[in-house]
Amino acid sequence: MENKKTKILIVGAEALPFAATGGLGDVLGSLPAALAREASDADIRVVMPLYAKVGAEYREKMTKVAEITVKLAWRNQYCGIYSLEKDGVIYYFLDNEYYFDRDALYGFFDDGERYAFFSRAVMDMIPAIDFYPDVLHANDWQSALTVVYNKLYYKYPGMKTIYTIHNIEYQGKYDKYILGDVFAIDNSDLSIVEYDGCINLTKGAIVCCDRLTTVSSRYADEIKDAFFAHGLENIIKANAEKLSGIVNGIDYEYYNPLKLDEKFSAGYRTFSGKAKNKAALQEMLGLPTDTDAPIVSMISRLASHKGFDLVKCVLEEALDNSDMQFVLLGTGEKEFEYYFCELAAKYPTRVRALFEFNKELSKKIYAGSDIFLMPSKSEPCGLAQMIACSYATVPIVRAVGGLYDSIKSYPAPDSNGFTFDNYNAHDFLFKIYEALELYGNTSEWDKLTLRAIKSDFTWSKSASKYMEIYSKI
Ligand code: GLC
Repeated sequence: MENKKTKILIVGAEALPFAATGGLGDVLGSLPAALAREASDADIRVVMPLYAKVGAEYREKMTKVAEITVKLAWRNQYCGIYSLEKDGVIYYFLDNEYYFDRDALYGFFDDGERYAFFSRAVMDMIPAIDFYPDVLHANDWQSALTVVYNKLYYKYPGMKTIYTIHNIEYQGKYDKYILGDVFAIDNSDLSIVEYDGCINLTKGAIVCCDRLTTVSSRYADEIKDAFFAHGLENIIKANAEKLSGIVNGIDYEYYNPLKLDEKFSAGYRTFSGKAKNKAALQEMLGLPTDTDAPIVSMISRLASHKGFDLVKCVLEEALDNSDMQFVLLGTGEKEFEYYFCELAAKYPTRVRALFEFNKELSKKIYAGSDIFLMPSKSEPCGLAQMIACSYATVPIVRAVGGLYDSIKSYPAPDSNGFTFDNYNAHDFLFKIYEALELYGNTSEWDKLTLRAIKSDFTWSKSASKYMEIYSKI
């Protein structure tokens, strides 16, 4: 029987629980299932690379759908297509060990070639699987070329494309001389992907897509401005008619406080539970067990746009003027790792810094903390502030991008955290002091925490907005 459902193929470089390094992985791990739940008349599928990091527990469940040869300029490369079903969504994994059997997802000299291969393979897989998408939905620069290839070369009849910007800072910029050799784009098409003297894959997708989205409505406005657009403001403005902002949700099942191991599961929606979780965290990290002391935490990639220069300016002052303990989890720029190393050495009984990307550990830190910091310089959406709320941890954020859209500042009646407007270290510090002071006022603090827990960051509203866009185009 013919499948009459609207067919959506979501393309991206990472998805939880299979392989992830950041928020894109969260989104591609939870939006598809939300779409499948919301729209029973849609057939939602996702395609990503089969990285070495994808665990055996998932590989065991995969079946091989097909094997194709992908032509990328002069290269002819094997590509195995595997699939498995999860939460009503079929995930495809594209296998090529030369490109994806590596010890990390990104950061290699040939990332441009790896994702050109991936994008090409996505386009070539369409006739090889029994699924012809009505909409191809690409995410971030690693899959930007699918949109470009379709517009220029594949031109699949009736197939529309959506491109979502998760963070405009990462654009996929390369030297022009590899246009044909690595990206398999003809010289006559250079103007499509050229920007500012370079190949810019994000620019190519923005120009070629039918609809453009980003991950909050505030960020959709912000990227028309040079401060946020990392050079692409004019391209965004010229394509503003296609653009809309749809805020991300979080996966309440994946971040389910009740699913942590016993020691940490006590805090969910009970305030005595928070103290137990805190004690468990202190014990785990070798911090003095003092459940009165507020635990302030950060869980973040150590990237400068996350606001670490503000943290560097004022964190010691906050430590010196309070009894707070501080916990950091994340990896990234060495400058910040050194800083937190030194800080932990200076405050051995009050500061812990853990340099890893570790989802299970992150959940315990959310569960055991009282206050969560996110002073981002820019933040397309941000998920950590939402996850913190769901674990009864009050966020202090800079009112920017998705942080602006999701967190309302105390003492507003609908407040679920604290916000500050300017990218200024002392404005940030004063919010920390304000939060620490309110923390001492248990009844007010509990009310604020309760509002944070009750904030609705489910996917359902946003999923229907995506469905609306899918059906309109
Ligand atoms: C990127 C952005 C982050 C967003 C995520 C998912 O990681 O930096 O703000 O939440 O993508 O869209």
